[in-house]
Amino acid sequence: MCQHEFMEREEKIQLTKRLIAHVDNDSTDYAEDMLVVPFSAFNDPELAKKEVEVVRRFPHIVAHVDEIGEKTGSFITTELLGTGLLLVKQSDGSVKAFSNTCRHRGSKVEFSESGCKRVFACPYHNWAYGKDGDLRTMPHADGFEGLDRSQYSLVEFPCEIRHGLVWVIPTAGADLSIAEILGAKHDAEVADTGMADSYQVRKETWKLDMNWKITVDGVQDTYHLCQLHTKTVCNYLEGNIVAYDHQQERSWRVVVARKSITEVRDADPDSYDVRDYSLANYTVYPGTMLVTEPGHFEIWTIVPDVDDPNVSYCTIRLLSPKKPETPREERILEKNWELLMETLHAEDWFVTKTITDNAAFGQVNELIYGRNELPGQVFHKTVMADVEALDAARAADAVTAQ
Ligand code: FES
Ligand SMILES: [Fe+2]
Repeated sequence: MCQHEFMEREEKIQLTKRLIAHVDNDSTDYAEDMLVVPFSAFNDPELAKKEVEVVRRFPHIVAHVDEIGEKTGSFITTELLGTGLLLVKQSDGSVKAFSNTCRHRGSKVEFSESGCKRVFACPYHNWAYGKDGDLRTMPHADGFEGLDRSQYSLVEFPCEIRHGLVWVIPTAGADLSIAEILGAKHDAEVADTGMADSYQVRKETWKLDMNWKITVDGVQDTYHLCQLHTKTVCNYLEGNIVAYDHQQERSWRVVVARKSITEVRDADPDSYDVRDYSLANYTVYPGTMLVTEPGHFEIWTIVPDVDDPNVSYCTIRLLSPKKPETPREERILEKNWELLMETLHAEDWFVTKTITDNAAFGQVNELIYGRNELPGQVFHKTVMADVEALDAARAADAVTAQ
């Protein structure tokens, strides 16, 4: 099948119908019940530690392909959940992700933010690693006679390029397949948007004074679109109107109707594309959201701070399906970014950062996620289940150790 037919005709028709029915009935896709979450879920240090362990087992975006050079040996350094990463382009075009930690006595190996090298030499005693991570040479090797060098390569993490993005799980030996996580249907839909060949317009990272789940909640939440964002986002998106599809255990798609959707109520289904009348958010648990709109993509990566439950990091990448060719195209993308910044800083984060203080001092014990807050409910339930599984595995380990 031709790739560009991938959102199936029938799927497009059904999605349009679902969204228009929600607009007509002022409804949305609902959860079975409300969900009550203890407020302590946002600032309990013990829970936060466990969540960092959970988050470490899943993939995160560490770069757009444009950020790493074309040539073999091109590299960037970055950090994910406290782990220093060295990402190096290999001769076959793939990228390997290493822990930026020397196998001798643990110094950081590569200090530059980016560059191109054949050999990565640790500055402390000059142990030198190849671009494949193998330990090549060390000064005064007679001091290490008998050491099997093949066992002292840089520690490698699962790393995959998918949809033009570099994904890493910062846990050695974990399995990684973004296509599998998204599920065949949603993976094909994302592929169909042309994200793999996209151009990175902007990228910025913020350190936020709020728990990582509050930050994720903000991107899952469509209930607030026409409540908080009355003068901005609500001009073109419907609030509280969502088509929700859970494809895989840890990935789901949230489609939000644009105000314009009712224009195609009676139109010939082959005369328009539902994606021009909606916005889709493909969430890859725990903290990645691929938000696709007709002219651009917003890629969100949210992770907790490893020490402070009240701090998280949010990276947003604005991508364009192609490099802008005219000043007008550039201006439109720039406008998208400005609108996003305005709503985020003056509206979303301005409000949600107050949750942090209220968790500590507000003397409110429980929070409620309504039936209309289905994506947020799924997110919180999944985190809770993963923490429970972690607890159970630890308890089982403790029994075996006795
Ligand atoms: S710590 Fe890297 S060479 Fe000694
Ligand atoms: Fe918002």
